[in-house]
Amino acid sequence: MTQDELKQAVARAAIEYVVEGKIVGVGTGSTANFFIDELGKIKHKIAGAVASSEATAARLKSHGIPVFDLNEVDSMPVYIDGADEITPAGAMIKGGGAALTREKIVASVAEKFVCIADGSKLVDLLGRFPLPVEVIPMAQAVVARKLKALGGEPRLRLKDGKPLLTDNGCVIIDVLGLQIANPAELEEKINNIVGVVTVGLFARQGADVCLLGTAEGVKTLTF
Ligand code: 5RP
Repeated sequence: MTQDELKQAVARAAIEYVVEGKIVGVGTGSTANFFIDELGKIKHKIAGAVASSEATAARLKSHGIPVFDLNEVDSMPVYIDGADEITPAGAMIKGGGAALTREKIVASVAEKFVCIADGSKLVDLLGRFPLPVEVIPMAQAVVARKLKALGGEPRLRLKDGKPLLTDNGCVIIDVLGLQIANPAELEEKINNIVGVVTVGLFARQGADVCLLGTAEGVKTLTF
C-alpha cells in the first residue's frame, strides 16, 4: 500500500469516532484532508465542524459542511487530526503544516483527540522530525537564541524564499537535532519562552486514540 492509501484507510476508520448530531473538530494536513473527504459523505449526520486552519475551513466548506467559529462552541466530543510523529505513549510532534496553534486550541476543547497517521509516524523518541515552534515575528531572533541554548538547531521556515506566515500572522521556527526524552517537560519549557505562541509538542494533552495505518490494516492504539 502507498502512504496515501494508508492515510485514506485511517481517515475512513476515523469516521467511527464521529458522533451523530454533534460538531467535530478537524485538523490540518494531507491525512486530515482525506478525513474531510470522508466526512463529506456523512455530512447530513453531523451538526458541522470546527476547523484548525483556513485551508481546512475551505475544504470543509467545499463539501458543504457547516464550519463553526470556535467561540460559538462550548464543547465537542472529538477532534481528529494527523501528526508528524507519535510515540507509543501518545505524545506527538505536530505543525508540519504550520497549523499547530489552532490545532492545539481546537483540540483543547474536544473531549477526545483521535490521531490518524500512517505507520511511518510511530517513533520511540520524538525529534527526528524538526520541532515546529510558532513565534511572534519581532521575537524571532531572541527565541531562536533560546532554542539553541536548549540544544537545538533553529531554522526559520521559508516559503518562496520569504518567512512563511501562519494563519495567525506569525513565523515558524523549526528546531532540528532534538532528542526529546521528556516531551511534556520540553513542551512547558518552550511554551514559557517569551515570544513563543505555541510549540508543536502535544504531550501534556496528547492523543487519546491513534489509528495507525499499516500494511496489515488499521491498528488502534489507546492511551
Ligand atoms: C499540520 C499538522 C499535521 O497534522 C501534520 O503535519 C501531519 O501532516 P500529514 O497528515 O500531511 O502527514 O500538524 O500542522
